[in-house]
Amino acid sequence: MKQLSIATIPGDGIGNEVVPAAIEVLEALSDIHGGLKFKFTHFPYNCHYYLEHGVMMPEDGLEQLKNFDAIFLGAVGNAKLVPDHISLWGLLIKLRREFEQVINIRPAKLLSGVQSPLVNPKDFDLIVVRENSEGEYSSVGGRIYKDEEELAIQNSIFSRRGTERAMRYAFELAKKRRNHVTSATKSNGIYYSMPFWDEVFKDVAKDYPEVATDSQHIDALAAFFVTHPDKFDVVVASNLFGDVLTDLGAAIMGSVGIAPAANINVNGKYPSMFEPVHGSAPDIVGKGIANPLGQIWTAKMMLDHFNEEEIGHVLLDVIESVTRNGLLTPDIGGNYTTKEVTDEIIKRLKARA
Ligand code: NAI
Ligand code: MG
Repeated sequence: MKQLSIATIPGDGIGNEVVPAAIEVLEALSDIHGGLKFKFTHFPYNCHYYLEHGVMMPEDGLEQLKNFDAIFLGAVGNAKLVPDHISLWGLLIKLRREFEQVINIRPAKLLSGVQSPLVNPKDFDLIVVRENSEGEYSSVGGRIYKDEEELAIQNSIFSRRGTERAMRYAFELAKKRRNHVTSATKSNGIYYSMPFWDEVFKDVAKDYPEVATDSQHIDALAAFFVTHPDKFDVVVASNLFGDVLTDLGAAIMGSVGIAPAANINVNGKYPSMFEPVHGSAPDIVGKGIANPLGQIWTAKMMLDHFNEEEIGHVLLDVIESVTRNGLLTPDIGGNYTTKEVTDEIIKRLKARA
């Protein structure tokens, strides 16, 4: 029997609609597979909590969360109540940083029945592994002088440890998929960090002779995401490149409402955090029409993380059968509700058991 203790933070807005939906699905999976049990503990951290307590999370919040097997999060942000930078930094970014979630992974896959904005998207199924702790988003640098003399310096930090860690993660992932890793580089234009990135990539690749590799400059790679997304399996990228690529990946899937994501702690000291790409969607909150697929797919990534890939595979298959049959929420062109889509997924999971 495998028992997983999961801290759930629905957060703001539609997080409170899609997280319960995904939990229902996980509970159903647990009923079907007797050997897998979840213990969910709910944490009410969101912008309402902030209004009441002046903080997004209590002082011992990290302490409360650190011993869970994983954190399952909805979305954070309600700009009407709390400025976005306060809510984001006070919760989401704090968790990612303090819990050393140094890798961010986001799949981009075309679900049959979902219209991609690409005219001819073919059948793409890729995953971007983004280095999530250093690179271009470092706080090393400074600003001096004023007016015309004003000057800003922003340094990029690429350590062998951080770079190698992201790349090894990508290769390990590729071994479970189609054995191909693409490195996102820019060594023709960025003088120090990207040639270093290329060298580390070559070094790491030597340990994975069974995995094919290629290297693409980020500008061309971005274009390929539009023209030939089906050419990619696993893509490994630095923090900034990965940030841009993953939004592009979510865009070509057809709706931000279906795109899943995970922030991975690789040293085992702290929990990893699973959260969909979308935000709190204030424009549709309370209408019951939020697309639950992003959150449910995120649950699938959590299952994969706990080596329950077979169950995860069935779940994604069922998600895709639902879209294929046109059971779609309004954001992807249908008129089904959150509840109808969720109930249908559970029904089909049970039917396949
Ligand atoms: P958003 O992702 O919340 O919404 C963008 C558009 O996509 C909206 O039209 C929304 O209705 C739609 N949408 C998003 N998720 C959907 C779903 N599951 N089903 C159907 N439609 C969906 O991004 P926005 O509007 O820029 O941000 C709203 C709030 O969310 C802000 O406070 C922002 O800071 C926060 N945010 C939080 C994120 C997180 O927690 N990781 C990520 C992005 C935004
Ligand atoms: Mg982004």
